[in-house]
Amino acid sequence: MKILVTAGPTREKLDPVRFLSNRSTGKMGYAIACAARDAGHDVTLVSGPVALAVPGNVCFVPVESAADMAEAVFSKAADQDMIIMAAAVADYRPSQVEEQKIKKQDGEFFLRLERTTDILAGLGKMKRPGQLLVGFAAETENLLENARGKLERKNLDFIAANSVADGFGTDTDTVILLGRDGGKNIIGPASKQIVAKKLIEIVTTPKGNI
Ligand code: CTP
Repeated sequence: MKILVTAGPTREKLDPVRFLSNRSTGKMGYAIACAARDAGHDVTLVSGPVALAVPGNVCFVPVESAADMAEAVFSKAADQDMIIMAAAVADYRPSQVEEQKIKKQDGEFFLRLERTTDILAGLGKMKRPGQLLVGFAAETENLLENARGKLERKNLDFIAANSVADGFGTDTDTVILLGRDGGKNIIGPASKQIVAKKLIEIVTTPKGNI
């Protein structure tokens, strides 16, 4: 299969020296890309800025902002059999990017933000028959309820619900993989490599039943 995986955070520029981002390390997305490659798939990895080595034998596309990631993913989406959005894409970016460094002033400072494109929701709208979409739901509360809502709203085939109540960046994970047919697989706790291998096994098996 041709599988596109996104990973890592995005960086939303504020001025020449500052950006808004999040604590995603990219480890899960990279582990998924490697697991898919090792299972014999043709993998494209679209990655935000992370401190990980570029995996061999994948088509690697480095990006910075949510807009860059949207452009890279949408330009490659049509011929993918599966797209797995493991990236922690920023939901907001600064409404205005300053050309010069913002200087401090006395008193409070207010930052105006605007929404970024929801890449996965866009993919859900343009999904062609037979194409599979896998999303991630990183939640600190109401994990399954929020994840199921995202699966339906974004027209996904699977969603990997991941509790981040203890924060991002841990080396082991538990993922609850929900299918659109009501299927539920609990994967882990295990290393991200083992979770990724199992996740790829399930989502690439017809109907997700193994
Ligand atoms: N995602 C995306 N584009 C965005 C934001 C998120 O493609 N601009 C994808 C993520 O890669 C992930 C999924 O959407 O696979 C879930 O993202 P999240 O932001 O948690 O979901 P939301 O529906 O935006 O809900 P909320 O902000 O309420 O958690």
